[in-house]
Amino acid sequence: MSSINYSEKIPNNVNLSEDRTLQRALEQWQPNYLSWWNDMGPEGSQNFDVYLRTATSVDPQGWAQFGHVKMPDYRWGIFLNPAESGRKIHFGEHIGQDVWQDVPGEHRANLRRIIVTQGDTEPASVEQQRHLGLTCPSQYDLRNLFQVNVEEGRHLWAMVYLLHKHFGRDGREEAEALLERRSGEQDNPRILGAFNEKTPDWLSFYMFTYFTDRDGKFQLCALAESGFDPLARTTRFMLTEEAHHMFVGESGVSRVIQRTCDMMNQLKTDDVTKLRAAGVIDLPTIQRYLNFHFSVTIDLFGADESSNAATFYSSGLKGRFEEGKRMDDHVLKNDTYKVLQVSNGKLSEKDVPMLNALNEVLRDDYIKDSVGGVDRWNKVIEKAGIDFRLKVPHKAFNRKIGQLSTVHISPDGRVISDSEWNANVDQWLATDEDRAYVASLMGRVVEPGKFANWIAPPIMGINRQPVNFDYVRFN
Ligand SMILES: [Fe+2]
Ligand SMILES: [Fe+2]
Repeated sequence: MSSINYSEKIPNNVNLSEDRTLQRALEQWQPNYLSWWNDMGPEGSQNFDVYLRTATSVDPQGWAQFGHVKMPDYRWGIFLNPAESGRKIHFGEHIGQDVWQDVPGEHRANLRRIIVTQGDTEPASVEQQRHLGLTCPSQYDLRNLFQVNVEEGRHLWAMVYLLHKHFGRDGREEAEALLERRSGEQDNPRILGAFNEKTPDWLSFYMFTYFTDRDGKFQLCALAESGFDPLARTTRFMLTEEAHHMFVGESGVSRVIQRTCDMMNQLKTDDVTKLRAAGVIDLPTIQRYLNFHFSVTIDLFGADESSNAATFYSSGLKGRFEEGKRMDDHVLKNDTYKVLQVSNGKLSEKDVPMLNALNEVLRDDYIKDSVGGVDRWNKVIEKAGIDFRLKVPHKAFNRKIGQLSTVHISPDGRVISDSEWNANVDQWLATDEDRAYVASLMGRVVEPGKFANWIAPPIMGINRQPVNFDYVRFN
């Protein structure tokens, strides 16, 4: 069950050939997917041979095989983790009952909405990143970008499989619509805000893969607890792919910082003008990018009080992060949670029913997790002997949804006036000038083993290959 059948048109480990109707429906969707990839996938790269990993089984050991492939020939398919026999719903009102193998009628609309919302983010990020290959800082980084892109494409397959298999006609319509919306397009945008933002340069890309792919991790972790077993099994396998995306982000930002610190020490300066003249990205600019990506990403968890979140949990569709490890009753009817409110011009906490605060619970878990990488980035700065530390802004800073979006809040968590905000925002969020400067650094470095001036090489290559390996053959 865990090994994948590659002899079929659509690689899978779900015995697709035994369900002819489903197979035919997915085989009809496949060319539409490929034409979406050709239109909206990485620009100008369809003919490159890229050193990609492909899943060979869903076993934790040795699931990946590496080799040079043209991206349009990548074997996108359907891979579910093996079923756990006797698995029970372990939270919400159905706790203790057998997990569902089919969609429970009363939860159908909510389940479809959850799957479509998750599915929509996957092609969106490919669209956001499609121009980046033209300005890659190295072959190594170019390969990592493409790996992330093909796997996001596969994540779309994962959700489309569920829609086709379990939702009949409207599932098929949703699967088509996933190929029709476009990131950032006025008339038919992607569903969630952060997935309509631009990813114009590589610092944005690393920040996105660190912060926004980590949102993906937390959403997938919550769905991996689902009482709808096919969703739980699908998302568990997606999580193994997601880990690499966050690695690309964390190590990418870390290498940018490393290079900047090296230059600061070489020139014995922290003067932004001098550092920019030397072609590296000054630490305050990195902080402003961080503030932007962090605040935009934590909005993705939704409003701090949400009756939808309560419904998704109580009906057993979406759990909490690491639901199984928590020591409460997993029903949460009598619990409360603290959320932020603005009263008398100040931030304060108030207790709300836990069930309504589950977006906030997941957001807080996310924040704890994302701070870890920032600490590791600070170790790089500390090791270089430089007196500067990056900081995650207050979670109320620069929010665009919920009650916190109605006021201005500084990165250290003070409610401030419009004029104070306007006077300082250029120190807090990446400015047009910052972005223009970073854009000016983006050249295209493709000689094996060479790296752009603004980023340090990685410590190791991919799959134990040397750093100067030819990760991409341009033909
Ligand atoms: Fe994804
Ligand atoms: Fe991802």
